[in-house]
Amino acid sequence: APILFSLRAIKSQEEVEQMQRACDITKAGFERVLQFVKPGVMEYEIEAEFMHEFLRRGSRGFAYTPIIGSGFNACVLHYIENSDECKAGDVILMDVGAEYGNYASDMTRCVPVSGKFTDRQRAVYNTVLSVMRGAIKLLRPGVSLHEYHIQVGELMTKELLDLGLITAEDVANENPAWPAYKKYFMHGTSHFIGLDVHDVGHWHEPIQVGHVFTVEPGIYVAADDETVEARWRGIGVRIEDDIVVTKDGYLNLTEKIVKTVEDVEAVCQGKTLAEAS
Ligand code: GLY
Ligand code: MN
Ligand code: MN
Repeated sequence: APILFSLRAIKSQEEVEQMQRACDITKAGFERVLQFVKPGVMEYEIEAEFMHEFLRRGSRGFAYTPIIGSGFNACVLHYIENSDECKAGDVILMDVGAEYGNYASDMTRCVPVSGKFTDRQRAVYNTVLSVMRGAIKLLRPGVSLHEYHIQVGELMTKELLDLGLITAEDVANENPAWPAYKKYFMHGTSHFIGLDVHDVGHWHEPIQVGHVFTVEPGIYVAADDETVEARWRGIGVRIEDDIVVTKDGYLNLTEKIVKTVEDVEAVCQGKTLAEAS
C-alpha cells in the first residue's frame, strides 16, 4: 500500500488530463445550474440539473454524494439530504464534482438564490476567497502539509479578526490544539484527490510536483451562535478548487469555474462573463 500511495499521489500527464476533463464537466454542470437557480427551486432539482449535464457529457455521474445546502443547511458540513426549498435571500452552497474516466473532481461554489449577495454574505464570501488565494500560493514543492495547514490557519485568523467574528482576546487565549479560527473553519483546507475524491497520499512527506490537492477554506456561522450579532448567524460559505502542484507554481483545474462575487452575480442575472467584465 505505501508504494501504491506514492504512485497514486503523483499524477502523470494523462491523469491530469482526465482530471481536467472531470473539472470541465463539473464547470458545464455549474453553468447550467446558474441559469436554473431562482427562488422556489428545490435543492434536489439542482442536483438533478448537475446529473443531467454530467451524463450528457460522458461522465458516469458524481464523484461523491453532492452537497446542495441552502440557507442554514450550508453550515451542516456533510448535509446530503438536498431536500429543502431555496428561498430568496439565502445562499446555496454546492459541493459537487463529476467523475470522468475513474478520476474525481471536487468543486464548491456558493450562489445567491436571488442573484445578489447581501452585504454580510458578500463580506464572508470575499474573506473565504482571500484565504483561498493565499492558500493556493502556499502549495509548493517541498512544503510540509502540516506547516501548510498552520499557515492557512494564520491567514484565516487574520481575516476573521478583520471581519470581527473573533477578537484579539480570543486569539491571545486560544488553545494551540484548537485555535480560535476553528470555531468558524473547523475542517482541513486540503486533501489529495485523484482516483478517489479523498485520495491516498503520504501526509507526512513534503509536497511534490504532480500532487493534486483541493483547496477548500470555509466560514460557517451557526444559526444559534450567540457570540456574534444575529445578522451573521446561519451563513455558510466554502469555495473549493482543484490544484496540481507544478515545478514553478501550480495549475488550477477549476480556474475557469466562475468564482468572484461579481462574476457569480453577473452570470446568475443572465449576463455572459464578457458582459460582466
Ligand atoms: N466533497 C467532499 C470534500 O470536499 O472533501
Ligand atoms: Mn468538496
Ligand atoms: Mn474536498
